[in-house]
Amino acid sequence: MELPSYFNDMLTKIRPSQDLLDMCVGAHTELRETLVNDSELKDIVVTTFLQGSYRRSTLIRPVNGSKADVDVVLVTSLDPINWTPAQVQEHFCQVLSKDSRYRGNYRRQGRSIGISLEKISLDLVITAAPSGTLKDVLKSEVFGSEFSVEAHPEWKIVKGPSFPDGEWKSEPLLIPDRDAGRWEQTDPISHIEWTHDKNRKTDGHYVNVVKALKWWWTWESSGRKGLPKGYLTECLVGLHCPDGLESVAEGVTLVLEGIRDAYAYNVHQGTTPFIADVGIPSNNVFQRVPPDCFREFYDSVKACATKARAAFDDPDQASSARGWIGIFGNVFPPSNNAPASKTFQKPSQPAEPRKARFA
Ligand SMILES: Nc1ncnc2c1ncn2[C@@H]1O[C@H](COP(=O)(O)OP(=O)(O)OP(=O)(O)O)[C@@H](O)[C@H]1O
Ligand SMILES: [Mg+2]
Repeated sequence: MELPSYFNDMLTKIRPSQDLLDMCVGAHTELRETLVNDSELKDIVVTTFLQGSYRRSTLIRPVNGSKADVDVVLVTSLDPINWTPAQVQEHFCQVLSKDSRYRGNYRRQGRSIGISLEKISLDLVITAAPSGTLKDVLKSEVFGSEFSVEAHPEWKIVKGPSFPDGEWKSEPLLIPDRDAGRWEQTDPISHIEWTHDKNRKTDGHYVNVVKALKWWWTWESSGRKGLPKGYLTECLVGLHCPDGLESVAEGVTLVLEGIRDAYAYNVHQGTTPFIADVGIPSNNVFQRVPPDCFREFYDSVKACATKARAAFDDPDQASSARGWIGIFGNVFPPSNNAPASKTFQKPSQPAEPRKARFA
């Protein structure tokens, strides 16, 4: 069965709590203001905006002591010919060092600077080379640099004073890849637009299907090294989620079956599939996943697809719910044989799946 109120209840438990979201807002606002107002950066910084799962409303509640992660893009007018990726990182690390909130709390990563605060991680991605039009769009009101998919379902970049000549199409930015020693293309804006659009075409169910499956896979994979992480799961859900969904249950079932059917041949051949990035389709988001890790993911999906189909087709409410609990653990009501609750209860603690199932 589709059990929509049970799915809603589960989603309330796996979304970040309001307190945590408030902390995220405080943390990203402080960081962005610090960078935009820094006197050394005033000729370099164009603007900032949010990206990643926080922006796309696909962030799930952190588990096992991990922190919620907010991805912040800093758009600069740096000239990629005169600046190497290592120089860019060094320059911005020096700026962060001037501030006692960030000094000692940041680390250099391959394509970003990770900032670790008490309950939140900020991932600062520095980008360069926006065209004149892109700069105008990013700085304009219509862009809504913090608008999340769930909070602003109607958001779309429409014609405005900055680009009066027709439909605007996103353009790539350049991102310094320190390990590769060169600048690479990135286009997070396209993925944000795509997600808004997909969510509208699925009656708002899409981001919930992503969260449900990210939650399932977080526990199923237990953070084992090499296995696909949250973003990769989201990309596959995006590829296999049909439009016109009537429920989250339907989306979960169809996505799992879609993945099972699409990659059986890859697994048989011992290869990892090429999964095109929404923003830069020539980039394979699964590039770093070894074939044996892909197989492990695939085998879990295949087993879960069978369970989801059985729970979805089951006409009995109690046994269907037991089927979904078998997938999502005790965040799915009514868990632990407790009577079904029709009332909403805000969880006071991060939800923990039943130990027995995930042990
Ligand atoms: N393998 C990849 N290929 C292309 N882009 C990537 C890849 N990994 C991450 N990104 C980009 O960087 C963003 C931030 O990465 P991150 O690992 O924080 O994922 P996320 O989507 O925010 O999910 P999570 O909830 O796990 O943080 C992604 O949303 C995506 O735009
Ligand atoms: Mg993230």
